[in-house]
Amino acid sequence: MNKEQAEKIVREAQWVHSFELTHGIWTPGLHKTDAKAILNERFALPMDLAGKTALDIGALDGPYSFELERRGAKVISLDIQSPDVTGYNAAKAVLGSRNEYVQGNVYELDRILGGISFDLILFFGVWYHLKHPVLAFEQISKALKADGLLLFEGEVLKNYAENTDGSVHADADLVAAMAESDLPITLYYSGPFKKDQWNWFVPNRACVNEWIKTAGMQMTGHGFWDSHPHQRMYGTAVRQPGAVIHVDNPVWPKQSST
Ligand SMILES: C[S@@+](CC[C@H](N)C(=O)[O-])C[C@H]1O[C@@H](n2cnc3c(N)ncnc32)[C@H](O)[C@@H]1O
Repeated sequence: MNKEQAEKIVREAQWVHSFELTHGIWTPGLHKTDAKAILNERFALPMDLAGKTALDIGALDGPYSFELERRGAKVISLDIQSPDVTGYNAAKAVLGSRNEYVQGNVYELDRILGGISFDLILFFGVWYHLKHPVLAFEQISKALKADGLLLFEGEVLKNYAENTDGSVHADADLVAAMAESDLPITLYYSGPFKKDQWNWFVPNRACVNEWIKTAGMQMTGHGFWDSHPHQRMYGTAVRQPGAVIHVDNPVWPKQSST
């Protein structure tokens, strides 16, 4: 494919991310995303992933998926949206990518992927769009190899909260105290948060840690980044050896009393 053909494909697709596909061809999305720098700086991810399998959940138009492929990984990208709608297939065509795309729900990973497990799973920008984030983390845990690594990123409570009518919560000290507390706390919105109807949970760091533990994993590192309107946490987790993922509520008699 020559440059003009590639530019035409890019022009005709819809993009959320702005990222360089190849040879100065950029996707014209609103969110500039340097996947290479993010994976290096936040996660210290090796440049050589040859022989590794990777799953990118919530891949959207694919900046992270294609960067993982560039590093030599065998990549499956999963998203609930069609890759024809998001621009993913346009990027794939321009790059001549061998990535596989699965359109599906993270809640059903186990069933959709037939029990395949991965060396690396990316879960970026998704948990706050889910009404059942713990279920998603449980599915991710099952899809992670025993020595695999989860890289995660998402909205957390740091310095900004809204009232349920969408106005900014005025008590900054309370918001900061909840954000920094070791008590696992999450905000939950049935209506829009940051004007987005599909934002539900805004957990604090301690709550994300508990979600991950419930799913049989252990957080191995984390950090924060702030760039209004985002207040975000990123980190890594591994499978906790011997961890059992419990059902929500066992039939009586219960094993333990609570
Ligand atoms: C904010 S975008 C994040 C895109 C990219 N991962 C990033 O971090 O920039 C959230 C993505 O998650 C996808 N998504 C939302 N709910 C999902 C679900 N239940 N299962 C799979 N993907 C989902 C959306 O379609 C969207 O592409």
